[in-house]
Amino acid sequence: MSNFNQESVLSVHHWTDTLFSFTTTRAPSFRFANGQFAMIGLEVEGKPLMRAYSLVSSNYEDTLEFLSIKVPDGPLTSRLQHIRVGDPIIVGRKATGTLLIDNLTPGRNLYLIGTGTGLAPFMSLIKDAETYDRFERVVLVHGCRKVTELAYGERITEELPRSDLIGELVSEKLIYYPTVTREPFRNRGRITDLVTSGKLFADVGLPPLDREQDRMMLCGSPELLRDMRVILDERGFEEGSHAEAGEYVVEKAFVEK
Ligand code: A2P
Repeated sequence: MSNFNQESVLSVHHWTDTLFSFTTTRAPSFRFANGQFAMIGLEVEGKPLMRAYSLVSSNYEDTLEFLSIKVPDGPLTSRLQHIRVGDPIIVGRKATGTLLIDNLTPGRNLYLIGTGTGLAPFMSLIKDAETYDRFERVVLVHGCRKVTELAYGERITEELPRSDLIGELVSEKLIYYPTVTREPFRNRGRITDLVTSGKLFADVGLPPLDREQDRMMLCGSPELLRDMRVILDERGFEEGSHAEAGEYVVEKAFVEK
């Protein structure tokens, strides 16, 4: 049996000239946990060219969705950015990753902290009722350079609260906090600065960062992850994994350089 399923592109959305997302068909046999990533790609010169992509879609949806940057000379994204409806996409049969609710110890508030395409796994998690069963508040923090890069903003604030399946939970428990670093916006600044200054917690109306109450998932650039780790480690937070649940978990965003 092949390690890959062949799917077909159902829709493509270009957010900016460097960011796009797309949906595909889903083989009924493809299973994943919300927050995980899979290898996806295209056949190039007869061989699969694959990269890791977090699933934006949740595991109960019948289509798959992915968020990608466009790197002009990136082996995969230079091609992937031109996909059209009906084109074939290869999706690895096995999904994996550490951004699982089960890898966190119980807490009151869950902070989902992502920069750029690091938002993707959190889109999957905020559509999962289980996320809301485990936490009183879920705070989705998305940091980007520019306002146009805040992908899925409207889906989060307009569509999800109206969803039959999770609308009520989203309205009651989800707080969306987008922040931008390089142009004017209602929330400004790097996530690390917003955490250390306490502005993030004040703005969302929750108590200051507290190891007893707060859990975090991090996904973004290596620099963000490095700096957030220092902040959390200094405050005594323990990192979780499949082996042992902890107070925060980390996944790098899979950016093609
Ligand atoms: P900045 O504009 O100050 O570099 P990128 O597009 O480079 O992946 O960055 C996405 C977002 O992450 C930007 O808003 C960027 O802010 C921010 N960022 C980059 N490095 C860090 C870091 N070490 N700590 C916090 N935020 C960061």
